[in-house]
Amino acid sequence: MPGVVIVGAQWGDEGKGKVVDIYTEHADMVVRFAGGPNAGHTLVVGADKLVVRLVPSGILRPRSTCVLGQGMVVDPTTLAAELAELDRRGLLAGRDLWLSDRAHLILPYHVVVDTLREKGAGAIGTTKRGVGPAYEDKAARVGIHAGALADPARLRAAVEVALARWAPVVQVLGGELPSADRVLADVEPARARLAPLLRDASAIVDDALKAGKRVLFEGAQGTLLDVDHGTYPFVTSSSAVAGGACTGAGVGPTRIQSVVGLTKAYTTRVGGGPFPTELHDEVGERIRKAGSEFGSVTGRPRRTGWLDVPALRYAARVNGFDGLALTKLDVLTGLPEVKACVAYRTPRGETKEFPIDALDSAEPVYRTFPGWTEDLSKARALDDLPRAARAFVDFVSHEIGCPHFVVSVGYERDDTILLRSPFG
Ligand code: IMP
Repeated sequence: MPGVVIVGAQWGDEGKGKVVDIYTEHADMVVRFAGGPNAGHTLVVGADKLVVRLVPSGILRPRSTCVLGQGMVVDPTTLAAELAELDRRGLLAGRDLWLSDRAHLILPYHVVVDTLREKGAGAIGTTKRGVGPAYEDKAARVGIHAGALADPARLRAAVEVALARWAPVVQVLGGELPSADRVLADVEPARARLAPLLRDASAIVDDALKAGKRVLFEGAQGTLLDVDHGTYPFVTSSSAVAGGACTGAGVGPTRIQSVVGLTKAYTTRVGGGPFPTELHDEVGERIRKAGSEFGSVTGRPRRTGWLDVPALRYAARVNGFDGLALTKLDVLTGLPEVKACVAYRTPRGETKEFPIDALDSAEPVYRTFPGWTEDLSKARALDDLPRAARAFVDFVSHEIGCPHFVVSVGYERDDTILLRSPFG
């Protein structure tokens, strides 16, 4: 069964957009299985740059069918706006794009709650897109399926129930909820656009797999933001790991052929929470500038730091990586030396494990590598890399116990060392 899952191994923003776009050349279908408009995948085509939040990054390749799976939370107005932009660029012409009728809706009151909470003491630095509150409604069994977009009476009734439920929360937070009429009026233009796209996404994906089509399951955020396996409570509210592809797309684990883990050659994080290898000096600033490390959804400067090998090993374990996609190696070019955390010193001794529940009392142990100054962007094979960069790349794969499938050496689609297709 030719299903391939691609997920972030860190705190998101690992360069998924570019790698998924490259892999989509080998895929017939791309399915997003988790998250919502909190993700922002930056796609580069020639001089053009495009940020997609909800639509799978595979949208740039004309022959692939795109599916938004039931594990997602979808803000209908954001999705409709994204489709309008894609339409304007001619990227939707003649292609199939489906929205699971069991994905959950993010409606304006979710955004109100998320935003109000982020003003208070419990703020964790969310993207304020209503993602957490929408997943809360889902788990509380009062969420609204995207399928309701096809049935205005059902949608109205569900919105009225949801507003009554959120009213006391919003009152305590000192805010104000929109009326049901306001919510429905806001959603109406998007409703008309999205209703024809609703499908049983699980059945569509299953049919494709049965027909031997190559299906790419595209994750959002990253392993360390996963609600089960991340640095809780500083996480998102969805299942961002490879296992989430099964629940979020509605396929069984037997349908997955391989899992690819994405990691930058360094680490970034947006929002609050522990980040042991964070750099607070000019090297961190230099990486931020060279890597354009500013949030694609919120514009926030990303926190930057050295690569965390124990964290990557942890991600390899909880996802079962078959291969790695190492991105943004070129961003480290010009640094006199490059470091990677290889172990942690903890009150209980040194460990090569990622002490996920004791990060505050753990101190990274670093290994230092010589830097390189050569331009990497023309490298198309590992042997084309300067010796110091090659040593760093080999070290990562050796430490994680996983081969590289891709090494990205620049911004453009072609600035890539493509070593192996995940479809075999
Ligand atoms: P939420 O997903 O908006 O609820 O935010 C929860 C946490 O996940 C915050 O720290 C966000 O900055 C982080 N987060 C959510 N989506 C992304 C992403 O696509 N990239 C990086 N961080 C993200």
